[in-house]
Amino acid sequence: MVKVAITKGRIEKQVCELLKKSGFDTYPIENKKRKLKIKTKDDIEIIFAKPKDVLSFTNNGVVDIGIVGKDTLDEEAKTSCKEVLDLNIGKCFFALASYPKYADSGINTINKIATKYPNIAKSYFKEKQKNVEIIEMDGSVELGPIIGVADAIVDIVETGSTLKANGLVVLDKISDISTRMIVNNNSLQNKEIEINNFVNKINTQM
Ligand code: PRP
Repeated sequence: MVKVAITKGRIEKQVCELLKKSGFDTYPIENKKRKLKIKTKDDIEIIFAKPKDVLSFTNNGVVDIGIVGKDTLDEEAKTSCKEVLDLNIGKCFFALASYPKYADSGINTINKIATKYPNIAKSYFKEKQKNVEIIEMDGSVELGPIIGVADAIVDIVETGSTLKANGLVVLDKISDISTRMIVNNNSLQNKEIEINNFVNKINTQM
């Protein structure tokens, strides 16, 4: 049996469509309601978890395969998994964003950054050789500049509508993000055939 962890939320529907297109039994996914663990007729066990948990479950071998965003992989950095596929869904990008006045005054006038991704933010500013204070937030980081606890944010932009609705703009694009398939290194060895069958079945449909 192959055990897969899928990130809950935004990408769930697209992952389900991809699995369906690839010939997997997706009826249990489509009808799971609030269930967190399901099993398909193809003998695949799927759990639905938050991004960081998908990564840690795949890292420690609780599941063989994880489906998770590049944002989480880049932020967490250390993994004992191999990235095997870019699923070309969940496309968005990391950006530095704030009020348009900072586009005029320049990045050097930015001193406080609100973010859910402190490691991404730190490495971005390290590359720019600029010291900033990182203020970690748990979501809705756009609030940082709005309430004045930060000058700017490092966050994910997908459609850009959250920025626009709050009068913020992209000051710099940092890196592209999409959903990736990762495989636990031990599973790659111990379940080689099952894992390859799963990965190839999806690969051939893309
Ligand atoms: C993400 C991100 C932005 C928003 C961007 O938040 O942090 O706030 O989506 O998407 P958009 O460009 O399509 O508007 P999410 O909705 O995942 O929730 P969070 O703020 O709680 O992290």
